[in-house]
Amino acid sequence: MNKKKIISEYNKKLELLNKLNKYYFDRSKPIATDKEYDDLKREIIFLENKYEFLKSKNSPSKSVGHKPSKNFKKANHKVPMLSLANAFSEEDLINFEKKITNFLLKKEGFEISYSAEPKIDGISASLTYKNGNFVRGLSRGDGKEGEDITINLKTIKDIPQHISSKDFPEEIDIRGEVFIQNSDFENLKDKFANPRNAASGSLRQKNPEDTKKIPLNFIAYTFGFEKGLKVENQSDYLKKLKEWGFKINPLNKLIVGVKNLIDNYNGIEKKRADLNFDIDGIVYKVNDFALQKRLGNVANAPRWAVAHKFSSNKAVSQIKDIEIQIGRTGALTPVAKIKPINIGGVQVSNATLHNEDEITRKDIRIGDIVTVERAGDVIPHVVAVDVLKRKKTSKKFVFPAKCPCGYETIKEYNKITKKFDAVRRCPDRGFECNRIAKEKLKHFVSKEAFNIDGFGKKIVEKFWELSLIKLPQDIFKLDYDKIEKLDGWGKLSADNLRYSVDEKKQISLERFVYSLGIRHIGLENAKLLSRYFGSFQKFKTLSKKNNYSDLLNIDGIGETQLVSIKNFFSKNINLKILNELDKVINIQDAKVVNTKGLLRDKSFLVTGKLNNISRAEVKSLIEENSGTTVSSVSKKLNYLITGEKPTKKKIESAKALKIKIIDQDEFLRMLNKTG
Ligand code: IVH
Repeated sequence: MNKKKIISEYNKKLELLNKLNKYYFDRSKPIATDKEYDDLKREIIFLENKYEFLKSKNSPSKSVGHKPSKNFKKANHKVPMLSLANAFSEEDLINFEKKITNFLLKKEGFEISYSAEPKIDGISASLTYKNGNFVRGLSRGDGKEGEDITINLKTIKDIPQHISSKDFPEEIDIRGEVFIQNSDFENLKDKFANPRNAASGSLRQKNPEDTKKIPLNFIAYTFGFEKGLKVENQSDYLKKLKEWGFKINPLNKLIVGVKNLIDNYNGIEKKRADLNFDIDGIVYKVNDFALQKRLGNVANAPRWAVAHKFSSNKAVSQIKDIEIQIGRTGALTPVAKIKPINIGGVQVSNATLHNEDEITRKDIRIGDIVTVERAGDVIPHVVAVDVLKRKKTSKKFVFPAKCPCGYETIKEYNKITKKFDAVRRCPDRGFECNRIAKEKLKHFVSKEAFNIDGFGKKIVEKFWELSLIKLPQDIFKLDYDKIEKLDGWGKLSADNLRYSVDEKKQISLERFVYSLGIRHIGLENAKLLSRYFGSFQKFKTLSKKNNYSDLLNIDGIGETQLVSIKNFFSKNINLKILNELDKVINIQDAKVVNTKGLLRDKSFLVTGKLNNISRAEVKSLIEENSGTTVSSVSKKLNYLITGEKPTKKKIESAKALKIKIIDQDEFLRMLNKTG
């Protein structure tokens, strides 16, 4: 056989293997027996051993240490896996505590106990136990849907397969971190960049035998869905975890007050280098579960927890150039291209300079010697300039007045702060500015939007340059024959992409609204809009509106958001995009969150001061029980809740519109709670 033929044979086998994987992992419908599958794999490896020139990144022989498979079965988390807000300073922590005390309407000085848990930098996993048996394990995924990695998790010795303790809940999702110890990582240094990558790579191998090769550990710290869990606070839960046979972090502590949190933080930071596992901060959780429940969540993070990140690492380097990046909202962000330098184990060659004002304030120039700081997963930034080291010939940096697309940039005037914005922008005229358009597409496919597997920023750039995509709808009409022929692609990769894109043709209204990238409409506002409109068709009627003020009835949507929405719908290109997308994808109606809620289909507005309960908590109580809150009296309002010193005008308008006026006690009775 000649070389060409061998390669073609080999590629065919690889393609077949890929197909079998897809049917097995994604569609849960195997089309080959285990033996056929193993034989095929063996043949591929045999060919590779025989002919040195055969190499493919998809080779089954390379599964450990290479990009893991995307093909695991997916499943929903019964309770979403949230992320955490970050804190970097004592001030951030004081604010975190203040928000909690305000929400709970507690006086300053109210003591909160926190479970302080060093944050291991690994991969989170959710383990479902039913009647004491470990039945399924999922990765975090996008928080709502994870990948079924049970077989790989089963190889981890820290994960009990069966728990017979009497007080172990009938059903529970035990959540924690999968990680690799630094001492074990020593032997894998040449294969992976850091312990976290090693853990992730190992966990996502298709073959559990490959996972076994890399020693993984598991530390438990929280739970998702549960039935029959009888503990009242986090520290007791951690104790139980230990009794049930899980490992917990030996450095966990119960701490009262911000000052003590800081002392503990400083102590642990000193010990950090001697630990056998990587930590990137400390997680603080309000210890009492009853308080946690009252506090609830904002967007996708709980109000009752925060991650206090370790102070950054700093290094000195030189600015080679200053590049201007254009963001999705048109913001011009200056980025310093620095001489590559290792900061805390990561190679850094870019550092953000934030905005024009920051450059002016610090007088940052090309050629300057600067201190660069990197904190956790946050973008590195320039903290200081060493002016003494500056050459006499150095010149002030002139911030461009024009966007590379040719448009004049502007600084917006903020009516609320009565100041001009620090950020300079290319005015967003829809998809006219190439830079903005590309960023919009990147946002469109990103994790929290369409979440298209394998469709990363680089692919957006490349497809854009090749004119394969210019507008969002193009993503669903890709020319795969053309893609297959691109350098570095081939049938296998093109098929994978087609599969990932097709999979996302169904989308929730909430994600869809978010993916449009309307300025000031983040996840939380997208959710509010999606609940308010209920369906894509209703959302689209906004285009026919002249008067958008109804939107102000949505609690959370203010003047800023309204102007931005109006702006979006005033552009023909956006309307065209909506129509075109409607033809190629299926946008699902908003789910009614909790249909059994006591306040279903009812809307509320509070006027005046209530007793022992903050506005924020009332709002959260109403929403938890499927009601909505509005921000003004209109025909759409069902109940006006009045407290001390209510606004007279609100009561009068409510009376005129025959809206029910109730007091706090009546409201609590509606929730089966007494006043
Ligand atoms: S609790 C609802 N506890 O941090 C709170 N998370 O940014 C979220 N993590 O995905 C989970 N140590 O991977 C919690 N003791 C700890 C943690 C911890 C590490 C990670 C976890 C999560 C991420 C949130």
